[in-house]
Amino acid sequence: MLGAVSGTPDPRTRQIVEALIRHAHDFAREVGLQPEELLYAAEFLKRCGDVSDASRHEFILLSDVLGVTMVVNTLAADAPDGALEPSVLGPFYRSGAPLLPNGADLSRGGAADGEPAHVTGLVLAADGSPIEGAELDVWGTNADGLYENVDPSQPDYNLRGRFHTDARGRFEFWTVKPVSYPIPVDGPVGDLLAATNRSNMRPGHLHVIASAPGYQTIITELYTDDDQYIESDAVFGVKGSLVVHYDWIDDEHKVAASPRKRPYWELRRDLVLTPGTRTAVRFTAGREELAR
Ligand SMILES: [Fe+2]
Repeated sequence: MLGAVSGTPDPRTRQIVEALIRHAHDFAREVGLQPEELLYAAEFLKRCGDVSDASRHEFILLSDVLGVTMVVNTLAADAPDGALEPSVLGPFYRSGAPLLPNGADLSRGGAADGEPAHVTGLVLAADGSPIEGAELDVWGTNADGLYENVDPSQPDYNLRGRFHTDARGRFEFWTVKPVSYPIPVDGPVGDLLAATNRSNMRPGHLHVIASAPGYQTIITELYTDDDQYIESDAVFGVKGSLVVHYDWIDDEHKVAASPRKRPYWELRRDLVLTPGTRTAVRFTAGREELAR
């Protein structure tokens, strides 16, 4: 049967399709796949499509919960020791977030967004030199564990923004401390998790895409160290180097000088990039209310 694709003009397409056929056949042989099970699989994939829309992408979620996303990301990023490691993009990335000045606050939903968090750091090359003009595209959920694009009660692009580092490589912004949240289980991926007796919880995390001219673009997440799900991420995204600690700041002088005038969390984290090619992220979710 592999001969059927031997005329594929593009060599990479041929390599991928041939290997897909070979592994799919081996898989069917290994488990003794029954005709009704093959039909179930076809229906499962059809339901993944049916439940997907502009703000929800069930196939990405499926890849995430099967661990395929993390395998692919780890293979793609050739991160040396100390460099920022990749993690999952997830299905909730929305491109076009506003470019904001350093120090800006991503929270535009008021106190309901969550506990304030001040995030600062440097973007550096491996030799410790600062990278000016690096871009951080960051996003997170509110205290209810919801991204703005699936929650019409939140302002457009709430808790999303882009920042550029200054001449010393510094970035700084305000957001909210991430909370753990469930991935959606009302679709086929939920059926898969239930059938395999798995949790659908993700530990709290801040999504980051870090990029700069002349450096590899890194899609990653920074995981909150005191989260109860840090050891059992439903999508296997946690790596030791991506676990971060937020300090609780209640010193009255610092609180008085802060934009929200109340105690807050502080995360200080430097990000080291690896020379390479800057790449664009070719996926964006939409916003639910705009898709209807
Ligand atoms: Fe997320």
